Amino acid sequence: MRSEATSDTPPIEVSGSSLLPLGMPPAEFLQRYWQKHPLLIRGALPNFALPLQPEDLAGLACEETALSRLVRHDVEANAWDVRHGPFDDEDFAALPESGWTLLVEDVDKWDADVAALLDDFAFMPSWRIDDIMVSYATTGGGVGPHVDQYDVFLVQGLGRRRWRINTDRTAPQDARQGSELQLLRDFAPSHDWLLEPGDMLYLPPGIGHEGVAEDACMTFSIGMRAPAVAEMLVDCAEYQAQRLPESLRYADPDLTPAGDDPGQIDPRALDRLAEALGALGQRMSRDALGLWFGTFITRYRSAQLPAPPEQSISHEELAQALQRGAMLLRHPWSRLAWLPHGNSATLFASGESMPCPAGLARQLCSQRYLHLDEAPDGAMLKVLRQLVNDGHLHLSAAGVSADG
Ligand code: SIN
Ligand code: CO
Repeated sequence: MRSEATSDTPPIEVSGSSLLPLGMPPAEFLQRYWQKHPLLIRGALPNFALPLQPEDLAGLACEETALSRLVRHDVEANAWDVRHGPFDDEDFAALPESGWTLLVEDVDKWDADVAALLDDFAFMPSWRIDDIMVSYATTGGGVGPHVDQYDVFLVQGLGRRRWRINTDRTAPQDARQGSELQLLRDFAPSHDWLLEPGDMLYLPPGIGHEGVAEDACMTFSIGMRAPAVAEMLVDCAEYQAQRLPESLRYADPDLTPAGDDPGQIDPRALDRLAEALGALGQRMSRDALGLWFGTFITRYRSAQLPAPPEQSISHEELAQALQRGAMLLRHPWSRLAWLPHGNSATLFASGESMPCPAGLARQLCSQRYLHLDEAPDGAMLKVLRQLVNDGHLHLSAAGVSADG
């Protein structure tokens, strides 16, 4: 069994008491373990009185509005099957003796005795606490190895459950195919414990874990909530956007002539964007900022988009047409821009992005009629064909002079 412990890692196992359910004062727990390290607290809630019986949980799972799931584990096939509630008596009567678990979310909202378990977590901001999920499992039951995005306190209420966790957060977190449960494809536990009633396991986000019922057991999961930054950014950006004056604009009083590269999103433009977007812009890498801006600005306020031609053209047909001297004319509604990355580039066309040789990207953005000095190679033809087939470029047989 591996151990990830270093001199900075506090002990992973402590004893609790009715006065100290965390085995230490909350301030110490928050400082040493919260969001940092898992902790098993033996006897966290001594004399734990079960606030809810398995039959009560089954009854709740029959309610129309309770969020419940039945998960069956087929040990031979190493597969998990999930069904969503509401359930009825027949569903429960049809279950086998072992290998399944019933999980009900938000039980604290339904049952005051379950909600009272939260008293031991009063040291947490209440808005950080999501719910108490209660599970009842028969021998061998569990939801499989997985990672949660939230901190969780797993209180063993009835019977015994074997918890195995992997403290290595750098372990691969690839999901196993074929199950709606986001199960880990590879799970190599570093710790293996049998929890008894009153024991509690704290897991920060990102720690792989699997709980398997040793015998009929109930677990009370006090789960925290933490909105995804992605979600918050969109929400916050929309909120801010509604309060910003129209006059606050992308501004470039320091602009210098674009020269040969009017279509390039240059490093100075990225600086101005990062500044204009404040914290949001600073949070993004330069590459991400440029990629977002390219797709954004080439579809921004576009009343129309170029329509694809009725018939698409093949790679060979395009190569032959260009060889015969055909010209490529940019569609008037097409908006193009490009972003250099070292020797290569990304070309943006009305909100779409594609890898593109830098020289071609520069040409496409600066010439309405495209003049290729030499026969295009495979990479260039690929971009040109996509642009023709998306309607950004139109093949015309007659030669017309370049007009920039
Ligand atoms: C449980 O089965 O009660 C807990 C599931 C989990 O690991 O989140
Ligand atoms: Co979990």
